[in-house]
Amino acid sequence: MKIIVADTKKEGSKVAFDLIKESMNKGIKTLGLATGSTPVDLYKEMTNSDLDFSNMTSVNLDEYVGLAPEDTQSYRYFMQDHLFNQKPFAKTFVPNGLAKDADEETARYNKVIEDNPIDLQILGIGRNGHIGFNEPGSSFDEQTHKVALTESTIEANSVYFENKNDVPRYAYSMGIASIMKSKEIILMAFGKNKAEAIKGMVEGPVTEDLPASVLQTKDNVTVIIDKDAASLLSPSSLEENK
Ligand code: GLP
Repeated sequence: MKIIVADTKKEGSKVAFDLIKESMNKGIKTLGLATGSTPVDLYKEMTNSDLDFSNMTSVNLDEYVGLAPEDTQSYRYFMQDHLFNQKPFAKTFVPNGLAKDADEETARYNKVIEDNPIDLQILGIGRNGHIGFNEPGSSFDEQTHKVALTESTIEANSVYFENKNDVPRYAYSMGIASIMKSKEIILMAFGKNKAEAIKGMVEGPVTEDLPASVLQTKDNVTVIIDKDAASLLSPSSLEENK
């Protein structure tokens, strides 16, 4: 795990953008994308750049069950709004929140991932160490599946909804096994409220109780954090990464 501590979220997002650019120059075809507040500045860098994504494919991590693509709280809407409307991709995939049958939808999405192997996956991290919507306790062996969100995730994500009761209780999410298939991963985290999850992810045991800790077992993982998110890391973790 390579750890890069940036001064600010903006600086960290620039570092992530440069890494994406470098990989695209080397010919990667498929980006795995994430939602949430964390990648917003990265998507700004992408939309403000002269990089051309029209030959690229994107595969998103997750979507709320029950939300239509045009619902302003859906992750499909988020992606259109923050990135795809300004920078068209050849193909973009997000799970279908309105799918009638959960098993069919997760199987369809697994096929999407199989047909479009992800070269570079962008990840954020939840305060409890979740990645995608793989909450603590999720099996490391799982592919795309339907997830019941935890109270802490519902609470954290309620800031985007008028009312906490409007936050969907379920989501479709790539599983840890799907995420781990990506050839390269960039995980970003900014702010004090991510410091504990980052410490557990980097220094704690590899455990399903903290899903992101699985990344310790993978090559080609770059963690980009700001000083606040790095604040609980022991000096030796940062030293190793100089
Ligand atoms: C949601 C998303 C995750 C994201 C996390 C953190 O639960 N499913 O992909 O990483 O929130 O969100 P934020 O970046 O807003 O802190």
